[in-house]
Amino acid sequence: ALSGQASGPLAGVHALITAGPTREPLDPVRYLSNHSSGRQGYAIASALAAAGASVTLVSGPVALAPPRNVNLVQVETARQMLKACEDALPADVFVSVAAVADWRPARAATKKLKIKAVDTEAPAMELAENPDILRTLSNKRKHRPRLVVGFAAETHDVEAYARAKLERKGCDWIIANDVSGDVMGGADNEVVLITRETSERWPRMGKDEVARRLAGKIAAELGHDGG
Ligand code: CTP
Ligand code: CA
Repeated sequence: ALSGQASGPLAGVHALITAGPTREPLDPVRYLSNHSSGRQGYAIASALAAAGASVTLVSGPVALAPPRNVNLVQVETARQMLKACEDALPADVFVSVAAVADWRPARAATKKLKIKAVDTEAPAMELAENPDILRTLSNKRKHRPRLVVGFAAETHDVEAYARAKLERKGCDWIIANDVSGDVMGGADNEVVLITRETSERWPRMGKDEVARRLAGKIAAELGHDGG
């Protein structure tokens, strides 16, 4: 439950966060997904709530406890995630941390597929493109959040790829995640904060610390930094 009278630098701010993977069904027992743990997104939701924001966390399936003082909306597919985000608008800030599956099986069978029945060739799976949630919210005419923050996991040319993503998606900031090391699924992260004008490399630090720093940056940007 959300407390009525929040205090802190983000009091009165509604923050919308996506986190975790999405899960795209092939049939009732099989799906396409990825290895996102949800840790960084959950840490950001917690840090924003601790700073006084009213937080809606739209999460794919993860093995994490719901953060305190956060409105958790659990979804499975990318399309459900987009719908839940649109239902949560208006928001002052959107932080898109989810590892959204770019593609889904074009058709989800209602009965378990008998894949082995086709015993001569490997079966083909037709894919359909999922909606891009970050791009969709960045390009809203009515109800575009004032600050839209994306994530980009890259193994090489981190800044250049991330800046291209910022342009393509129309967001304001990108947190570029350098995943060339051992940060995936771990407690630490190595990020570069990229804005339209600047880029700032942060030292390797815990995901909780990345979340707190980002919450501070968001508070300063939204003009509720307590000063
Ligand atoms: N994202 C999203 N919806 C999608 C795909 C991505 O909202 N269907 C968001 C992610 O939450 C992240 C950002 O877009 O904030 C970048 O995601 P990423 O997968 O790195 O970028 P893509 O454009 O999908 O490119 P690629 O996977 O080819 O690197
Ligand atoms: Ca992607």
